[in-house]
This record gives sequence, structure tokens and C-alpha cells, in this order.
Amino acid sequence: MALTASDYAIAKLLDKAGVDLILVGDSLAMVTLGYKNTLPVTLDDMIHHAQAVGRGIERALLIVDLPFLSYQVSTEDAMRTAGRVFKETDAKGIKLEGGYPDMVKTIRKLVQAGMPVMGHLGLTPQSVHQIGYRIQGNNPKAATEIWEQAQALVDAGVFALVLENVPSELAIKITESLPIPTIGIGAGKDCDGQILVTHDILGLSDWQPPFARKYVDLTEIITSAVQKYCQDVRQPSYRALRSNEPPE
Ligand code: KIV
Repeated sequence: MALTASDYAIAKLLDKAGVDLILVGDSLAMVTLGYKNTLPVTLDDMIHHAQAVGRGIERALLIVDLPFLSYQVSTEDAMRTAGRVFKETDAKGIKLEGGYPDMVKTIRKLVQAGMPVMGHLGLTPQSVHQIGYRIQGNNPKAATEIWEQAQALVDAGVFALVLENVPSELAIKITESLPIPTIGIGAGKDCDGQILVTHDILGLSDWQPPFARKYVDLTEIITSAVQKYCQDVRQPSYRALRSNEPPE
């Protein structure tokens, strides 16, 4: 099972809790950096966060998303971008969105150069201005297109495939027909693995996707702890602990 991370502290917790794969997803643009969508995040941002996450991981597989426009313009761009991720972080693989012919060619080249690539089909958030955040592949033509792209990505050499926000029947069909693992997010329960954005399951996101179960409401817990601290400090009797005093 897989989750996202964008900093050392959370990565360390996920790793210790037994998460198999930690993705430095470009969703960090929204949940960590406060942007409206994933498009503004840069390669330098991704590398900075991936380095922090890498320092927190002892066991899990670290995968890093290539950000918008760092790999779509040309295969040469993609090679250089991916090369920087592998040279400057502990990433064991990268993830790219899309399965159209030029992307398939680029992925083939990356894999041939020894860089493990994870694919991402269905709702691809870097195309938000074209497709929105709606379910994808929910008519026969669109489902066939995603299925064909999945086959093409396997042929190009991806080692796993994220399927985001597609009908569970389509996710089952793709999962059963591919020789590589599928990892679902909003794609039903029958993919080989599951991934969610950690901020969503911890109750730290501004917007909760309908397919992400909230396991704890950290917004409530942190707000109440910070309010208690503020009340304490405002008391005339407040006395900060000194470093040589035992904690209360
Ligand atoms: O950026 C991201 O968080 C993702 C999801 C698949 C979790 O790509």
C-alpha cells in the first residue's frame, strides 16, 4: 500500500508504520504549498521535498512525480528532468502522467536509459484545465482509450500504473490484463495496490475527495492543541519550562 509524503517528519512516520511505497506526489503543490492545482510546482520544489522525504525513509520505496511541463515538451527535457531526480534524491522511480503516443515514446526512452517509470492514467491532474477533476473512462470510447494506453505503457516498460478516478469495472479489466501492478486512487478496491494523499486521510486538506476516507481529524486536534497553548501563554501566571526542569 502507498501514501504520499512531502516532508521528513511524515515520511518517517509512514515508513515506520509499514507503508510500502511513498510517493512525493505533485499534489504537494496543493496540500503543502497552498496552490490551487498541481501546475505551479517546479522541478526544484519537487527535488527539495523529495530530499527531505528521502531522509525520513529507511525501508519504503521512494517514487517522485515529475511536475507539469518538465517532461511533456520533449524526450530530451524528460531525460534531463528525470536524471536530476535520480542524481539529486534517493528516488527509486519516477511517475509521469498520460499515455498518448509521444508520452509512450518518452517513457520507453527513460526506461531504456535505466530509469524506472510508473505510469498514471485516468484522472491526470496536470490536465485539469482540459478534463477537470471528474471521473474518467466512464463511457465505452473513453474506457477503451484508457485500456489501450495502459497496454502501450506496459509495452514501453512502466513497472506499475496508477489508475485515478476511473470506474471500478475498468480498473478490474486493466488490472486483470496487465502483467504489472496497478495502484488505484478512487478506482475501486480491486487494483493490486491503493494510494491516497496523506493529508486527505489525516484531515489536513482544504478539500476532501469523496474517495478518501478520513482516518483522523488532525485539523481539529492541532487547532485545539494550539488554542490551549495560546491560552496558557496569555495567562499572567504562565511560566515557560526551562531546559533543566522536568516536563510537567
Ligand atoms: O500527486 C499525487 O499525490 C498523486 C496521487 C496518485 C496520489 O499523483
